[in-house]
Amino acid sequence: MEIDRIRGLLRDASRIVVFTGAGVSAESAIPTFRDALTGLWARYEPERLATEEGFAADPALVWGWYASRRAAVRQCAPNAAHHAIARLHSAVVVTQNVDGLHARAGTIDPVELHGNIVRPKCFAGCGWHGDADTLEAADARVPPHCPDCGAHARPDVVWFGEMLPPAAWARAEEACRAADLCLVVGTSGLVYPAAGLPALARASGAAIVVIGPEATPLDALADVVLRGRAGDVLPTIVD
Ligand code: OAD
Repeated sequence: MEIDRIRGLLRDASRIVVFTGAGVSAESAIPTFRDALTGLWARYEPERLATEEGFAADPALVWGWYASRRAAVRQCAPNAAHHAIARLHSAVVVTQNVDGLHARAGTIDPVELHGNIVRPKCFAGCGWHGDADTLEAADARVPPHCPDCGAHARPDVVWFGEMLPPAAWARAEEACRAADLCLVVGTSGLVYPAAGLPALARASGAAIVVIGPEATPLDALADVVLRGRAGDVLPTIVD
């Protein structure tokens, strides 16, 4: 059965990439982006909230939305899926999530393709990057100002239409090119360039495993597809 096949692939693999999306945090009560009813975008207009134009038009609205998401993330805890992934000590974890839960579960230096919601950076792009403590002090409803140039601070996340952080992308590409196994967990596989990483791993000879409760376009690439919730199946697979 699928779980035995995946465990066999894990045993034989030496260069593992775990590629995750919002589904791996769903069991931490963090809404996914596209699941019906609970999906985040269903309740907000992404164009107004997750774009440079949206922030420029109403910095307080966008900053306040991210402040509420940061507060929600702080209330959440990594779930069994994050902990199981953290036990794959030699794996490179490449995540689209901005919630920081992989690191909180013990994954060392996850590749955060879309940034991290708890970190601020300069909206004018002067190069300043803050840390979570900066936000703790200034996490008001109105965005603080960049200490270096005085422009607004903004969340250090990738907005629609923006480039992914080059260093993170380079790490993700390198890991996928070298991989002999890529576990794809909890992603709809709809948002590029991130969603192109499993195909890159496959082209480099990696076995592909896709784990999630619903069919996704990435299933077509998979050697094994396991329908299930990450928090339910990953502990069984990893342990
Ligand atoms: P989506 O919301 O698009 O997809 C979530 C996936 O997780 C779906 O395939 C669900 O079926 C699956 N899922 C739900 N519950 C699950 C569970 N308990 N265990 C495992 N899987 C589960 O989220 P992403 O694919 O991460 O980009 O979205 C990708 C990107 O789109 C996000 O990073 C964000 C968004 O625009 C940016 O913000 C740049």
